[in-house]
Amino acid sequence: MTTEPKASGLTSVLNDMNAANSNNSHQEFQGRTLAHPDGLKQAILTRRSVRIFDGQRITDATMRELLDLTTLAPSSSNLQPWELHWVKSADKKSRLIEACLSQPAAKTSGELVVIVTRPDLWKRNTGLMIDLLNQMTPPPPSGVFTYYKKLVPASLMTGIGGAFVPFKWLLTRVGRYFRPMPQGPLGYADVRLWAHKSTALAAQTMMLSARAFDLDTCPMEGFDEWRVKSILGLPCKAEVSMVVAIGKSMPNGIYGPRLRFDKKLVQFEH
Ligand SMILES: Cc1cc2nc3c(=O)[nH]c(=O)nc-3n(C[C@H](O)[C@H](O)[C@H](O)COP(=O)(O)O)c2cc1C
Repeated sequence: MTTEPKASGLTSVLNDMNAANSNNSHQEFQGRTLAHPDGLKQAILTRRSVRIFDGQRITDATMRELLDLTTLAPSSSNLQPWELHWVKSADKKSRLIEACLSQPAAKTSGELVVIVTRPDLWKRNTGLMIDLLNQMTPPPPSGVFTYYKKLVPASLMTGIGGAFVPFKWLLTRVGRYFRPMPQGPLGYADVRLWAHKSTALAAQTMMLSARAFDLDTCPMEGFDEWRVKSILGLPCKAEVSMVVAIGKSMPNGIYGPRLRFDKKLVQFEH
């Protein structure tokens, strides 16, 4: 007979949440089978980083739909630590192009969206999640509230000047010998990494969604973050993840064939 390992606080809360989800047949789960599975494959296969666009603006309606689709990206604890800054003003756009080192993709793009990550807003976003959960009927199980009220803060809180880091380090490094437990985030650098991971998924969601409108994209991290933040009036703790150029590719917009490393170097089966 096998014995179930004893659930840690986090494991039991996650188990409760999973059980609740499997009992709830959320309406939005209906019709989840892709009507055109090839559509997504095509989006992935045809997405390329385009460096020369035709410079035509994209309609507001399309851009808004694209931004809405982007916010459907998954995020850690659903805390959505991102902001999407669509730069519409001609003056700001020309300053942004300069801040993007005048790269051709930025210069020729129809639109530029700055994908910003906000590691500093996790507390606000946890509160927003709790508000949303409070509005749910039927209400979610109490474990979900415990997760957002206790476990999320315990995980993301670093204390003034990183005061909690030594305690979190000791707890996780000793605790892991007794039961599986997340090993971070410990300090604010880890919280930044935590936020950037989810934000990068939002960027990819935007780039794949763009293909649904037959639009092309180029993600860019070649920019002067200090300038980009000043153009957008972002606070000190906001961080620029990527600037995404969007538009229609020119025939010579793709610089070369798709280059990928040998599968053996990146795909492993265990
Ligand atoms: C985080 C990130 C930053 C990037 N920054 C730039 C950039 O500043 N300028 C640029 O032309 N391409 C940039 N790229 C595009 C990559 O060069 C490109 O994705 C890669 O060469 C693979 O080509 P593909 O996207 O066409 O498959 C970036 C891509 C990523 C994911």
